[in-house]
Amino acid sequence: MGEKNPASAGEKNPASAARTAAVVTVSDRAAAGVYEDATGPAVSALLAERGYEVVRALVVSDERAEIESALVHAAERDVALVVTCGGTGLSPRDVTPEATAAVCERMVPGIGEAMRAASMQVTSRACLSRATAGIRGRTLIVNLPGSPQAATENLEAVIDPIGHGLDTLRGGPMSCAR
Ligand code: MTE
Repeated sequence: MGEKNPASAGEKNPASAARTAAVVTVSDRAAAGVYEDATGPAVSALLAERGYEVVRALVVSDERAEIESALVHAAERDVALVVTCGGTGLSPRDVTPEATAAVCERMVPGIGEAMRAASMQVTSRACLSRATAGIRGRTLIVNLPGSPQAATENLEAVIDPIGHGLDTLRGGPMSCAR
């Protein structure tokens, strides 16, 4: 597992923060150093722009055990939102949705559906992302595709409702009236 943000990782205690986030890039090649991860930083920048404190950013390979470990660790740290980047497609190595489902207690299928619906306006290949979302403890985990453009386009489509979802998840019963 390649730690990309060691200065901020493991030091903060975001137990009460409703807008903390972790970014997990899932890529064999980025994890092996074949190329530098550009998606994690792009997603972190978008999250910061929208008021999230990104407390952890790391790169793991397309191995279920590594992905699950990163997700469980972030949930144990009570990070509010964990965003994964990559591994949602049809390649035999793409297992991020399976790893996500394995560690979640409740799924939130509408987030993936909304991202695909919005992205189909951009490219018909959007339907090839199997991205899902779910909840472990008080942590919401959301999958994004792996390219910087695809990841940020998908996140843009759901970032507003995610904020409301986190308020509901972490703040107890509240009105959803519009
Ligand atoms: N969504 C948007 N908005 N823009 C894109 O370019 N690419 C698609 C899809 N979703 C894309 C997108 C493609 S080509 C694939 S294969 C899937 O995301 C899965 O990407 P991943 O395997 O990198 O997770």
